[in-house]
Amino acid sequence: MKKITIAIDGFSSCGKSTMAKDLAREIGYIYIDSGAMYRAVTLYSIENGIFTGNDIDTEKLKKQIKDIHISFQLNPETGRPDTYLNGANVEKKIRTMEVSSRVSPIAALDFVREAMVARQQAMGKAKGIVMDGRDIGTTVFPDAELKIFVTASPEIRAQRRYDELKAKGEEAGFDEILENVRQRDYIDQNREVSPLRKADDALLLDNSHMTISQQKEWLAEQFDKVCKS
Ligand code: DC
Repeated sequence: MKKITIAIDGFSSCGKSTMAKDLAREIGYIYIDSGAMYRAVTLYSIENGIFTGNDIDTEKLKKQIKDIHISFQLNPETGRPDTYLNGANVEKKIRTMEVSSRVSPIAALDFVREAMVARQQAMGKAKGIVMDGRDIGTTVFPDAELKIFVTASPEIRAQRRYDELKAKGEEAGFDEILENVRQRDYIDQNREVSPLRKADDALLLDNSHMTISQQKEWLAEQFDKVCKS
């Protein structure tokens, strides 16, 4: 069967990563979480004195961006890829509230986006890839054969993130998370470089009231349709 490129974009915490990971595993494709790459750059910036308080030393980050090596390796326990930053597994660290609340301004920097987009395009050269993010269908892979744009209400997304953090034993209040979701939506949609928007040829999926298995079924149908056409 021909290999295609699948772009899954959408708002934060709308469950697109879960959908994308599961689909990739089922169809034997590579899965890349592009958000994890922006999170890894944010973590690097925090740990290396580039992002202190509200200030980002953009000159320093520009110089060091080529030294930020990000890779993914399958975690046999979870069956899903973990994110590595310069050789260290940072999967847990990049999911904390600290990184979540500071990633948007890093992801809004044009030179950071340029560097990440170039790496993402290189990873997708051979096709057979599912990548999720904000600009995959519009900028990274504008020619992707299957594009999905996922959305859900902010309250439902905040509840999902709250449940996720709670399950991991992390302290966080629902109101704080809802505020973080709203803020990120605003920055993601209003930034100058590659703002979050649905590609004209993307299929819209509002999963506010869908179960994970319903979404999986829907996605598998879309994949079959494209592969048979
Ligand atoms: O999907 P996520 O929540 O892990 O994404 C983290 C941040 O990175 C979020 O603020 C949006 C940004 N992002 C982006 O700008 N472009 C992408 N392709 C993926 C994520």
